[in-house]
Amino acid sequence: MSATSAKRRVEELRRQVEHNAHRYYVLDDPEIGDDEYDALFRELQAIEEQHPALRTSDSPTQSVGGEPVSALEKVRHDVPMLSLANVRDADELRAWIQRMRSHLAREGIEDPSFAYVAEPKIDGLAISLRYEDGVFVRGATRGNGEVGEDVTHNLRTIASLPRRIDDAPPLLEVRGEVYMSLPDFTALNERRAEAGQSTFMNPRNAAAGTIRQLDPKLAAERPLSLWAYSIGQIDGVRFSAHSEALAWLRERGFPVNDDIVRLDDEEEVVRQCLAWQERRSALEFEIDGVVVKVDDLELQRRLGSVGRDPRWAVAWKFPPTTKVTMLHRILWNVGKYGQLHPFAGLEPVHVGGVTVKLATLHNEEDLRRKDIREGDEVIVTRAGDVIPQVISPAPHAAEREDRSPPPAPPALCPSCETPTVKREGEVFTRCPNRQCPSRRWQLLKHFASEGAMDIEGLGEKQVGQLQRAGLVTTAGDFYRLTAEQLMGVERMGKISAERLVERIAKSKDVPFGRVLFGMGIEGVGYVTGRNLAQRFRAIDALADASADEIAETPGVGPKVAQLIHEQFRDDDMRALAADLKALGLRMETEGAAPGEGPLAGKTFVLTGTLPDLTREEATERIMNAGGRVTSSVSKKTDYVVAGESPGASKLQKAERMEVGVIDEAALLELLGPGAGAPAEGSSARPRRR
Ligand code: IVH
Repeated sequence: MSATSAKRRVEELRRQVEHNAHRYYVLDDPEIGDDEYDALFRELQAIEEQHPALRTSDSPTQSVGGEPVSALEKVRHDVPMLSLANVRDADELRAWIQRMRSHLAREGIEDPSFAYVAEPKIDGLAISLRYEDGVFVRGATRGNGEVGEDVTHNLRTIASLPRRIDDAPPLLEVRGEVYMSLPDFTALNERRAEAGQSTFMNPRNAAAGTIRQLDPKLAAERPLSLWAYSIGQIDGVRFSAHSEALAWLRERGFPVNDDIVRLDDEEEVVRQCLAWQERRSALEFEIDGVVVKVDDLELQRRLGSVGRDPRWAVAWKFPPTTKVTMLHRILWNVGKYGQLHPFAGLEPVHVGGVTVKLATLHNEEDLRRKDIREGDEVIVTRAGDVIPQVISPAPHAAEREDRSPPPAPPALCPSCETPTVKREGEVFTRCPNRQCPSRRWQLLKHFASEGAMDIEGLGEKQVGQLQRAGLVTTAGDFYRLTAEQLMGVERMGKISAERLVERIAKSKDVPFGRVLFGMGIEGVGYVTGRNLAQRFRAIDALADASADEIAETPGVGPKVAQLIHEQFRDDDMRALAADLKALGLRMETEGAAPGEGPLAGKTFVLTGTLPDLTREEATERIMNAGGRVTSSVSKKTDYVVAGESPGASKLQKAERMEVGVIDEAALLELLGPGAGAPAEGSSARPRRR
C-alpha cells in the first residue's frame, strides 16, 4: 500500500473505529458486531505497524475504549484496567505462547514451565469493586481503562455482591464482570415487550444500560449478576499464583465461576477452549470466548504489557456469530396482544452453527431508528439459543441508489385483515381484534408453554391443529379434550392421545402464579404472575382489585397496574378466570396466608437498599411469613425496614406516626430461623427451550 493510500485508509478506519467504539461503550447501542469491529481494529493496527509514521497518540489503538461521558461521577483507577489481545484458533494461541517464551528468554528466563488458568470470557462489562476494611465502598466501570464511572448505587442491587467480607485486608480491589443471565434477559425483554417498551438487543447491552442508569430503582428491576475474576489491588496479602487469588476470593464469598480451570499444558488449553466453544450455548450466560492467563504472578510481572494489552493473558475469541446477508422481505406476525412484530425473510446464511432464513427485527421503532429496508444487505446475528436477529444494515447499505422506501406496518392485520391501530406512546402497531386467529394461537401456545402450564406435547404445531379443527378457542378448552378427539385431529395413536389427556389434566397442579402468567394477561410476565399470586392470593381478589392496589405488588408500576385492572373489567378475561377455576386449576395461593405465620397481620414498608436482600427477596420472605408489604407509610404500618439511602419522607412519616424503623438484621430476626425463606425453586425462572 502506498503511503498516501495508507494515510487515507488509516483516517477512514479511525473514524469508523471511533464511531463504533462510541456506539458500543458510550451509547450501549452498537451498530456492528464485535467481529466486524475487531476486523476494523486489527486492520488499523496492521497498517500502523507497517507505517509507524502514521501512528499518533490519539489513535484508538493507543487507548482502551469508551470515554466516560455521562452524569455519573468519574473514578480514577489506581491500577489501570487493561484489555486483552485476541486469538482465534489453536495456531494463534500457540504463537502467543511462543511470544511469551521468547520474551522471557530475553529476560534471561530459559524454558519456563507454565501453568495456565482458562476462564470463560463472559460477555458483560468489566467493573472494579473497592473494599475498605472489608466493607464495599465503591464500584466503578472500566471506562477508558484509566477513568471509569461510579456505579456503586447500581452494583448494590446485585444480590451476589458481598457487601462486607470477613478476614479482610485494609484495602482490597476486586475486578470482575457484571452481566445479565440469559433467563433474566429473556424475562426482562418479555416484561418490556408486554409493557409496550422497546426490548434490549442482547444481554450485554441490557447489563451495560442497567449499570449506567442513574436510578438504582431501575437497576433493581433488571437483575444483574457478577463473576469476580481477579484482584486489582490488595494490602498485606500476597499470592504467588492467580489461581490462589481466585480461591481466596471464593472463600470470602465472591462469586467465582466454577468452570475456571488450571491447566498445565498448552494442548490442554487448546482442548479446553474448543470444548467451551462447543458448550457455549448450554450455559446460562453468554460467553464470547475464553480468557487464558499465565498462573504464576511473578511470571506475569516479568511479562508486563504492550500498550493496552498484558502479554500474560489472551482472549480466545469464538468464531463469528454475525454475518452479512440480503434482506429480501420484511414480514409481520401478530403477538399475544395483537402487537405486530416485524421479522426478516433473508437470503439463507450460515451463522452460529445453523442456517438462518428468518430473523427478528424487534419492533417498528427499532426498524425505523436503524433504517433497515427491504433489499438492504444486513448484519445478522445468532448466538447460543438466542433467536436470530437482524442488527443493522451492513455498512454502505444506506448509500444504495434505488433503495426501497422505509417499511411501515401493514394497514390490515396479516392474519384476520382487521384494520390495525397504533396507540399513543406505544412502540407497536396492533391488530385490535381479540378473536384474531393469530392472537388466539399465540395465547393458546403461551398457556401450554414451559414457564406457564408446561404441557409437553402441546407445542405450536399441535395447538394450531386443534385450533383449526375448532376444538380449542380458549385455554379452558384444553381440559375438555378427549382422547378420541385428539386421535382424530392429531392422527395420534390411542395410547399417546390418552397420555396427552393425562398430561393436560395433571397441569391443573401448576401453582397459581404460573396460571396467572399462562392466562396471557398483558403486563403479567412470569415474575409478575408470581408476585400477584403472593399479594392477592386468590383470583377473585385480583380481579376485583383497584389499579392502586395492584400497583402495590412488587415490580408492578402504576401503568402496568392500570393495564391489568382494565383487563379484568373485560367479560372475556373474567369468563376465562371463572372457567379455569371451575375446571379445578389452582386459582389460589397455598402456604402461609395473611393471618398465619410469624408475621401474621404485620404490615411492612421497605425503603433504601438492604445489605443482603434485594427488595423482591425481602418482600417474598415477608409475604411467605404471612406479612404484607405496602409502598407507603400509614397508621396501619407496623415496621419500616430501612437500608442504605432510605427515602427521607418515609422516615419522617414513620417518626410522625410512631412506626418502628428497623434494619435488615432485625427483619431477619422477626422472620425467625429459616422462616420465610423462599420455597425451593420458587425463584427459578423458566428454562429456555
Ligand atoms: S481479565 C488483563 N478475565 O474481557 C486482564 N477479562 O477484553 C483483563 N472479561 O475488559 C481482564 N471475562 O470485560 C478477564 N475471566 C475474565 C473475563 C474478562 C470477561 C472481559 C473484561 C475485559 C475484557 C477484555
